[in-house]
Amino acid sequence: MAWVAHISGRPVGIARYIRYPDELERAELAVEVVDAEHGRGVGRVLTEATVTAAVQRVRRLSATLDPGNAASRALLAGLGAQFHLVEGVLEATGELRLPESIASRQSRHAT
Ligand SMILES: CC(C)(COP(=O)(O)OP(=O)(O)OC[C@H]1O[C@@H](n2cnc3c(N)ncnc32)[C@H](O)[C@@H]1OP(=O)(O)O)[C@@H](O)C(=O)NCCC(=O)NCCS
Repeated sequence: MAWVAHISGRPVGIARYIRYPDELERAELAVEVVDAEHGRGVGRVLTEATVTAAVQRVRRLSATLDPGNAASRALLAGLGAQFHLVEGVLEATGELRLPESIASRQSRHAT
């Protein structure tokens, strides 16, 4: 599943998850935003939308990122991911859970 973000009809970012064919409870997550729109919250919105959809079907997530990319680390840390440096690349893994902002909204509606 993939979500695409648009600003004034122009695509500016994409996030997707792909389930591993031999391990359907695990998915790889990836998000990318065009350089000109970095730091405006597009990556966060795309990640939250993708994780909210994925959590219905998947229990664990993986992602691969550049160790120097602080924004992607912040996004994945917010999902509770653990990081391991493997051959110069950062591997993120973790149990998938609803983003805090969505979970707190859900619990407010449930009471
Ligand atoms: C990672 C990426 C998608 C982030 O997109 P973005 O739209 O700039 O991200 P946001 O503006 O939503 O910010 C996401 C988080 O990173 C933090 N952040 C953004 N820029 C940052 C920077 N330069 N340094 C530190 N933290 C930063 C934000 O504070 C935010 O955290 P918060 O929501 O907890 O406050 C973007 O940098 C990108 O496309 N990178 C290349 C592809 C990549 O590395 N993808 C990750 C692999 S999964």
